[in-house]
Amino acid sequence: MPKRKPRVLFITGAASGIGAATARRAVELGDRVVLADINSGGAKAVADSLGSSALSVTLDITQAEQWEQALNQAWAHFGQVDVLINNAAIVHAGRAENITLAQHQQTLNVNFMGPLTGALAMLPRFKAQGHGHFVTVASMTAFLPFPGLASYAAAKHALRAFHHAFAIEQRDSPFAFTIIHPTSTETPMLDQEAESDEAPLCFSGPSVSAEYVAGVVIDAMDRRALEIFMPPERAKTVRLLGTNPRSLKKLVIRGEEIGAEHLKARRDARSGV
Ligand code: NAI
Repeated sequence: MPKRKPRVLFITGAASGIGAATARRAVELGDRVVLADINSGGAKAVADSLGSSALSVTLDITQAEQWEQALNQAWAHFGQVDVLINNAAIVHAGRAENITLAQHQQTLNVNFMGPLTGALAMLPRFKAQGHGHFVTVASMTAFLPFPGLASYAAAKHALRAFHHAFAIEQRDSPFAFTIIHPTSTETPMLDQEAESDEAPLCFSGPSVSAEYVAGVVIDAMDRRALEIFMPPERAKTVRLLGTNPRSLKKLVIRGEEIGAEHLKARRDARSGV
């Protein structure tokens, strides 16, 4: 196997869940990481646990000027950034009619405009250094209109469209582009989804650990994979369902029933019932 070349990764949403697990795995493999998060205390705690290979920076991904400051800090500290992992996102779980307009707006702003703002802030810097890799953490909801997470899924559809359009525009550049679609993952985001009775579909299938997804992200990055679905065997069905609302409706009805049972079992297990 060829020796792995250590890189500098700039990871958003790295205070928690998949972002933090990806940072830990990357450092284990010899990479250096910039942990960027709106939760500066959380990012600092993870960075402190990783030693001199990690730097934490405060970043609200929706704010272009904060991107400039955070990227300046990254370059001042490590002298380069080889990979941008656009991972941060939020969720407001519930039927669309029960989510406020401000929450829908925030979902679109953070989950779609945030990564877009980051990619465009990074582009001139990657151009100046002559290389760079854009990695986007999206979701299988990028293919599925998803009852209970309607605007979250809409933002992920938009994010996937932007990612690929941007990559194709940059086809003559030396840059790599990878997009990854995790399945349900045990993180604070999934815990938040479990607090709602209106998004049972999130629990229709088994969940995986953040460490597992981190391994997939790093492997996809190392292989410069174009697009990774989790689990891969469901990719074709999910993509077909996404374009067939009649079949999707049937599947959702059954999936919500199963998800509600799983959710009840999860809550019972956590409350010691
Ligand atoms: P998480 O909630 O554990 O972590 C998200 C992190 O993003 C937090 O540290 C939070 O402070 C940060 N963040 C939120 N808003 C921010 C902002 N404006 N600027 C900077 N940082 C901000 O979530 P998780 O599960 O680790 O999610 C990571 C990615 O994986 C997200 O893109 C999510 O949509 C995606 N994903 C998660 C799945 C799951 O079941 N957990 C399934 C499919 C995709």
